[in-house]
Amino acid sequence: MTAVSAVVLVGPMGVGKSTVGRLLAERLGVEYRDTDEDIVATEGRTIAEIFVDEGEPVFRAIEKRAVHRALAEHEGVLALGGGAVLDADTRALLAGHRVVYLSMDVEEAVKRTGLNVARPLLAVNPRKQWRELMEARRHLYEEVATAVVPTDGRAPEEVTQAALDAL
Ligand code: S3P
Repeated sequence: MTAVSAVVLVGPMGVGKSTVGRLLAERLGVEYRDTDEDIVATEGRTIAEIFVDEGEPVFRAIEKRAVHRALAEHEGVLALGGGAVLDADTRALLAGHRVVYLSMDVEEAVKRTGLNVARPLLAVNPRKQWRELMEARRHLYEEVATAVVPTDGRAPEEVTQAALDAL
């Protein structure tokens, strides 16, 4: 039988997927898993190193494999990297899951992440990059989501409770 994650978290980087994901897993009494962490573990290098060494398309191919593996194996809470929804096959696969979209607006995103060299997509002019990222991705997050939980101005515990209420 194919494993189905209890809850999949999607949303932009810095929105709090790992913090909320861990809290949510605790509340549900299940394990937490994060596809970015899976990638770092299997590749033996950081996400930033993969971007720099091989470029974004190679990272996306690695990410796709990691996401599909985790979706098939993991029965707990699973957080996906912010760009995982760019892949159409991944979006189709998410149709069988409970997917919570943690959302935030551009100003909140800039405030939370700032200039972030560890996140290659934000290394230069974060406000402009955030605006473009959100415009390109918002509808993809909405497409896969079974619930949307806004996080602006909310503490992780509050977001976790809102996610539980929305499940
Ligand atoms: C990315 C988000 C990151 C990481 C990579 C690319 C993106 O994950 O996968 O830097 O394209 O939005 P988080 O959302 O976990 O930070």
